[in-house]
Amino acid sequence: MNDIVRIASCRKESHDTKTFGFVMKGNAKAGQFVMVWIPGVDEIPMSLSSTGDTKCITVKAIGDATKALHGLRVNDVIGIRGPYGNGFSLKKNQRVLAVGGGVGISALMPAIRAHGADVIIGARNKAEVIMEPEVRKYSNNVRISTDDGSCGFKGNAVELTKEVISANSYDLVIGCGPEIMLYHLHKACVDSGIECQLSLERFMKCGAGLCGSCVMDGMRVCEDGPVFGGRQITKLKEFGRIRLDPAGAKVKL
Ligand SMILES: Cc1cc2nc3c(=O)[nH]c(=O)nc-3n(C[C@H](O)[C@H](O)[C@H](O)COP(=O)(O)OP(=O)(O)OC[C@H]3O[C@@H](n4cnc5c(N)ncnc54)[C@H](O)[C@@H]3O)c2cc1C
Ligand code: FES
Repeated sequence: MNDIVRIASCRKESHDTKTFGFVMKGNAKAGQFVMVWIPGVDEIPMSLSSTGDTKCITVKAIGDATKALHGLRVNDVIGIRGPYGNGFSLKKNQRVLAVGGGVGISALMPAIRAHGADVIIGARNKAEVIMEPEVRKYSNNVRISTDDGSCGFKGNAVELTKEVISANSYDLVIGCGPEIMLYHLHKACVDSGIECQLSLERFMKCGAGLCGSCVMDGMRVCEDGPVFGGRQITKLKEFGRIRLDPAGAKVKL
């Protein structure tokens, strides 16, 4: 689907993160993403944080396109292509732990709403913890980690994950967040023998498997992912180490 839509809602999540809602018919799976065109600026990938007829994206302002998006208001126009990618694959009755780092928790929201899960929200500090009230509507077991200890567990989300999985029994860990977090989350899951599905990021141009700008070890993150299973990730030698820059050159992470 390729649509020009009006922003229907805009909610501030933190000092640098906002959630935008827009009406777009059609189904989307938890974990899929859309390409968002900000007129006159750029087109960028964004995970869906809600997947109903009113869909949402939750945007952290870090550069030109995301800052321009933050400057838009209700009724302003954006372009949406997608949804793209595979999404999470959750089986009924699976005991799931969802681990979201920073804005990454937003990409897990559709899976948490649809399936239910124990949840870890990781952030640098209390001011950067987002979506906690929304998560608590769908989960009875929510833990927060902050690097500086200003809220919840003092330490990073993976350290808290190790504590939580040693005290509980899970069939699956799903995760989204900074690559360094996902790298260690994957290792923690392998070490404890728990299957994981992690949503990965790479620079994207087409979003639809055509241009090759998101390739990691021969896999197109936009088309073969963005969600990869633990066994697939074990084979990705570039994961946590190397990415392609916008010109297609390999750079160290
Ligand atoms: C499948 C997918 C889903 C995504 N979902 C979301 C989402 O739900 N919410 C969200 O806020 N972002 C999400 N992103 C990341 C988002 O697309 C980028 O932050 C955005 O493209 C940056 O564009 P910009 O023009 O604002 O910044 P740029 O000017 O392109 O970059 C500004 C600075 O940030 C760095 N940067 C760029 N991209 C990233 C990144 N992914 N992580 C860390 N640093 C980066 C650049 O190297 C540069 O230093 C997703 C990315 C992918 C691939
Ligand atoms: S962004 Fe073009 S192939 Fe993935």
